[in-house]
Amino acid sequence: MRSLLCVPASQPKMVEKALTLDCDQIILDLEDSVTPADKVAARAYLKDFLSKVESKKKISLRVNELSSTFAKADIDLICGFNPQPLSSVILPKIHSLEDVKSWAAKLPANMQLEVQIESAMGLINAPQIASHPQVISLAFGPADFMASAGMPSSNPGTPWAEAANALQWPLMQVVIAAHAHAKTAYDGPYFQITDDAGLSSSARTARALGVDGKWVIHPNQIALVNEAFTPSPAEIAHAKEIIDAFKASSGATNLDGLMIDEASKKVAERLLERVAQIHN
Ligand code: COA
Ligand code: MG
Repeated sequence: MRSLLCVPASQPKMVEKALTLDCDQIILDLEDSVTPADKVAARAYLKDFLSKVESKKKISLRVNELSSTFAKADIDLICGFNPQPLSSVILPKIHSLEDVKSWAAKLPANMQLEVQIESAMGLINAPQIASHPQVISLAFGPADFMASAGMPSSNPGTPWAEAANALQWPLMQVVIAAHAHAKTAYDGPYFQITDDAGLSSSARTARALGVDGKWVIHPNQIALVNEAFTPSPAEIAHAKEIIDAFKASSGATNLDGLMIDEASKKVAERLLERVAQIHN
């Protein structure tokens, strides 16, 4: 998985367009990108769209927070499908394992759940949240997290220059919690949709921290994020070299000045697994 495109479910034209784009997953949003006044019409559209849609992409639905007045109708929509067209349900603003259990009890049995960690409390509880058997991924939500943590910003999702790298710490916490339970970790979107350099830098940082893919909010962001999360031919060649060097050695060995051992081999193998997943 590389890019997950968020699309407001109140925008049928965008939803149709999303099907034609090179993202790996489509997140149909009923939450924060849809105004309360538009949610009823958006659900009616989704009921029709999802009962007909055919796509090789993963298609997921982001619901409204369980404590909101909108959640009941979101649940009814999801439970009304047979067969179930959704790959997963995206759960926003999850603060605890109890929140996940409450959702799981209301959604179809065995529905795959993808959780957004976007509050201080959610981050503290991320390891327990990731342990739930139906949770397949954690995604860091930068803007809501900044609000929850009290981080000021004129560009929500991007901290002040004085703390430019501050979101790396919670993002890494999300990676650790997800990967400790063999789940997937995603970074949230980059909100400045015309800043390609900023987006690439954000995506490359996320990948460097061990993140598996990134949410995007605009078609122009897909190629850059896919590129950042796709190992380059040079990376792949180097990983193969490391594995070959280790296999040919009787323990630690020297590859052009780089010490290679069992741990280096594991890092190289993980990269090749990622390549195989992308091409699947
Ligand atoms: N998915 C699919 N298509 C999208 C899209 C998206 N997320 N965002 C824009 N497009 C389409 C537009 O419909 C337009 O299509 P067209 O050329 O065929 O008419 C094209 O891409 C260019 O769009 P543009 O005019 O540059 O964007 P905009 O100003 O209309 O919209 C946003 C900008 C940010 C409002 C819009 O991209 C958006 O709503 N993004 C998703 C927001 C979201 O889901 N937020 C919640 C999750 S964090
Ligand atoms: Mg959010």
